[in-house]
Amino acid sequence: MTNLDFIYKRKSVRKFTDEVISNEAIKTLIQAATQAPSGKNLQNWHFIVIKDKQKINQIAKIVEKKNDALASYLDNEDEKKKLTKFLKYHTIFKNAPVLILVYAGSYIPAGYKALQAKGASREEIDNLLKPSPGVQNIAAAMENLQLASAQMGYGTCWMTGPLYAKEEITEYIGFEKDGYFLAAMTPIGVPVDEDIKSPPRKPVEDVLTIIE
Ligand SMILES: Cc1cc2nc3c(=O)[nH]c(=O)nc-3n(C[C@H](O)[C@H](O)[C@H](O)COP(=O)(O)O)c2cc1C
Repeated sequence: MTNLDFIYKRKSVRKFTDEVISNEAIKTLIQAATQAPSGKNLQNWHFIVIKDKQKINQIAKIVEKKNDALASYLDNEDEKKKLTKFLKYHTIFKNAPVLILVYAGSYIPAGYKALQAKGASREEIDNLLKPSPGVQNIAAAMENLQLASAQMGYGTCWMTGPLYAKEEITEYIGFEKDGYFLAAMTPIGVPVDEDIKSPPRKPVEDVLTIIE
């Protein structure tokens, strides 16, 4: 049987010790992330690594402020409570020694220009864009980053919850690259708990169809 332990070693980690991560280790991890496959080998990713604790905390504050603002638009009390309750899952990076912001550059899928030339409707274009290959590229890099981190004894947590504040975060860090947007983030650090359990998965039979 193939040894797939490295897959099962990765869990979402949300509490970190203060242990510093060297720039060398970070480079090793980003190098592993960039070994991911990408459509047309476009490698439309950019990683911003933040080690300054004050800046990491400030990003958490930006998310808190945006969460508050969004909650204030909701009249429905249950929806309001839900958004506020989930804030803690959108700021779990605040005590991590490292926060990585992963930006995605634009990606024009095959057939896009042809549909435009045809004068296709918004619906047809949206339908073509649905598989989001540009974002899939970033997801592949993210998974590599997470698996590599786990192998090196570091914890990570893939995050998109805080992205309602992606423009504010981008403005705060002052990152500009044409067509790039913040697509995901992850804290990295040494986990406080050694024995983290992942939530259960659906049975394979429920998510698998084999056509023979
Ligand atoms: C696209 C994506 C977005 C996620 N966003 C968040 C998030 O904002 N906050 C959080 O605490 N966890 C987030 N997670 C982690 C999931 O909650 C976690 O992967 C899932 O519960 C399975 O647990 P495991 O990673 O320990 O196996 C995200 C995971 C993915 C793949």
